[in-house]
Amino acid sequence: MRTICLIGGSGFLGRHVASALCTRGIGLRIPTRRRERVKPELIVLPNTEVIEADITNAKVLGEMVAGCAAVINLTGILHERSEGDFRRIHAELPRRIVDACRSSGVSRLIHVSALKASHDAPSKYLRSKAEGEQQIRAAEANGINTTIFRPSVIFGRDDAFLNLFAKLASLSPIIPLGCPNARFQPVFVDDVARAIAGCVDDPQTAGRTYELCGPKTYRLQELVEYVCALRGLNRVILPLSARMSRLQAWFLEHLPGQLMTQDNVQSMQVDNVCDCPFPEFAGFEPMAMEAAVPLYLAKRTLASRLDRFRVRAGR
Ligand SMILES: NC(=O)c1ccc[n+]([C@@H]2O[C@H](COP(=O)([O-])OP(=O)(O)OC[C@H]3O[C@@H](n4cnc5c(N)ncnc54)[C@H](OP(=O)(O)O)[C@@H]3O)[C@@H](O)[C@H]2O)c1
Repeated sequence: MRTICLIGGSGFLGRHVASALCTRGIGLRIPTRRRERVKPELIVLPNTEVIEADITNAKVLGEMVAGCAAVINLTGILHERSEGDFRRIHAELPRRIVDACRSSGVSRLIHVSALKASHDAPSKYLRSKAEGEQQIRAAEANGINTTIFRPSVIFGRDDAFLNLFAKLASLSPIIPLGCPNARFQPVFVDDVARAIAGCVDDPQTAGRTYELCGPKTYRLQELVEYVCALRGLNRVILPLSARMSRLQAWFLEHLPGQLMTQDNVQSMQVDNVCDCPFPEFAGFEPMAMEAAVPLYLAKRTLASRLDRFRVRAGR
């Protein structure tokens, strides 16, 4: 059995990628900083080793990728705990991963970046993601076949995006909303996971970068209104100006939990929408948000319970 090293496999997207790879009969090695925090559903996957490891240590990283048929890197952060974290995780770690692949003779590397990553992007997050992509592409010169994915915001049962708005809506009758006109094209987590798992053995994806988006574009305010409607909550959404959005982010950045940072606001200055259709090699069309989100976010009514039964029964 082939083994793939799934770096960042303990996260939201990682758990779905792990399950998609397992169904293809692939064995997995998943490093994590804290094994006891990892969701049980990951540990019980067949042929999967979840190993507590410090992947910032070159020797440890080398041991993790050694003998693997491919490496997939999903590590990422949305907020910096200390200055330089974005560079360390999004740019330096990919370089170390490339070095580890080269020394261990791993010739397939798949990397998840972010939509609109660019060296001249307004946010540190997007600039550091662009640096990471550059490190990955440079690996092609060493005979490593690379594929980069750039997803828009990802939704799914345990996402940190729509669920966050659902939580905020449950706490307050008024929602002051920063960047209400920021545009997104949310993509379903299982679609992203299937595309990543599907490209592992597909030679046409080598050396390519793919954008991943869902079928529809929404403004942030529309997404929050949609979540409120699904939860059956009648909320007043207060759209904030650009200046007030920055001020709100400055305030939230200093609270524990960092719901939003000034860098997030900077990221939202760029439309998070795709310039091209969902990649053809995947062989399927991406799921609409309206088909998946009600199944996990809708207020439980008799009708929604019946809908759930219908979906489970495939009707
Ligand atoms: N979710 C989205 O909407 C979205 C949109 C666009 C792009 N992406 C990209 O997709 C990838 C996966 O996102 P996700 O939502 O699954 O993220 P996530 O749930 O936050 O998981 C992040 C993963 O990165 C690892 N990680 C974080 N900081 C680390 C550090 N300092 N050292 C070592 N490992 C570290 C974590 O491993 P531990 O087990 O060690 O904590 C975890 O497995 C990321 O690259 C992200 O930027 C996500």
